[in-house]
Amino acid sequence: MFDEPLTTGPQAYVLDTENPRVNSADLVRLILQDRALNEAIQPLLPHGFVPTPTSRIVDIACGPGGWCGRVAAEYPDVEIIGVDNNRKAINYAKSINSRENLHFEIQSIFDDQFQLHLDLPDNSFDLVNARLLIGVLSSDPEKRQWETLVSEIYRILKPGGFIRLVEGEVATVAYAPHLHRLLQAFQAVLFKKDKAFATTELAITAMIDKFIKQGGFINVKKQPYLLNWSAGEKYHKAVADDTMAVIQTMKEQGLLTAIGDMTEEEYTEAFVGTQQELKTIVASWLLVASEGCKPA
Ligand SMILES: C[S@@+](CC[C@H](N)C(=O)[O-])C[C@H]1O[C@@H](n2cnc3c(N)ncnc32)[C@H](O)[C@@H]1O
Repeated sequence: MFDEPLTTGPQAYVLDTENPRVNSADLVRLILQDRALNEAIQPLLPHGFVPTPTSRIVDIACGPGGWCGRVAAEYPDVEIIGVDNNRKAINYAKSINSRENLHFEIQSIFDDQFQLHLDLPDNSFDLVNARLLIGVLSSDPEKRQWETLVSEIYRILKPGGFIRLVEGEVATVAYAPHLHRLLQAFQAVLFKKDKAFATTELAITAMIDKFIKQGGFINVKKQPYLLNWSAGEKYHKAVADDTMAVIQTMKEQGLLTAIGDMTEEEYTEAFVGTQQELKTIVASWLLVASEGCKPA
């Protein structure tokens, strides 16, 4: 159905979205995750940002575009652009959004030499938003990809414009040895693929405001959100489905067994055991929204 590649530019995402099955599975997962996060992480815009009819907003790596759609509906005078390198995600985002103030573009955050570069003009946006890039950007300090993302965002913002980054950790789960085993393998993949900043946690929620401050932004703030996804709680289904979907996709891609130090038998036992554990799970998910302002 897609004659062209499913993604554009060099691949950095931990999930191989050039593979049609991985691409479809990830899109379905992101659509559901997006709804839960738009509800849980409020307000949608930075605290200090006051939209005006001339405001322009861009969402970097927007995925299926749910955040953009919500903002476009709440602020019909504001112009919003969502960019992502996944053709299928952008086609989906376009198909569910027909607002005149909202546009989507296929665009990679890496150029052909694999340098992080936003293909957007200097001093042109009032707000740049990006959510959940932990699986895309390298944590290797020599590559400085997080720092470069922040400096590219600084470049495309107008003086007085805002940056807002939202990132999360791997879920915290009590009394669930099978799910722990799966999450341990998931964490190991993210560390060995140079995405996590530490061996036992992603640690991006600790780093995020540091990158924003180092990038020259002022009034930097950081707000934590703790989603309770214990059995019977509001975010249980959304986060449980999301977690299991990304684990299944990583398994299908061979990552949990090849890189996550898990045998096929261990995976099957842990996956089956997790289905039981989810019925009584006690669990939370830490996310952080951090914002800053480019000096006027
Ligand atoms: C975890 S998803 C987050 C999506 C969205 N920000 C959200 O929170 O719903 C990561 C996104 O990064 C996108 N992505 C991966 N590599 C990219 C690249 N080189 N340029 C632009 N987007 C990329 C993926 O297609 C995917 O939509």
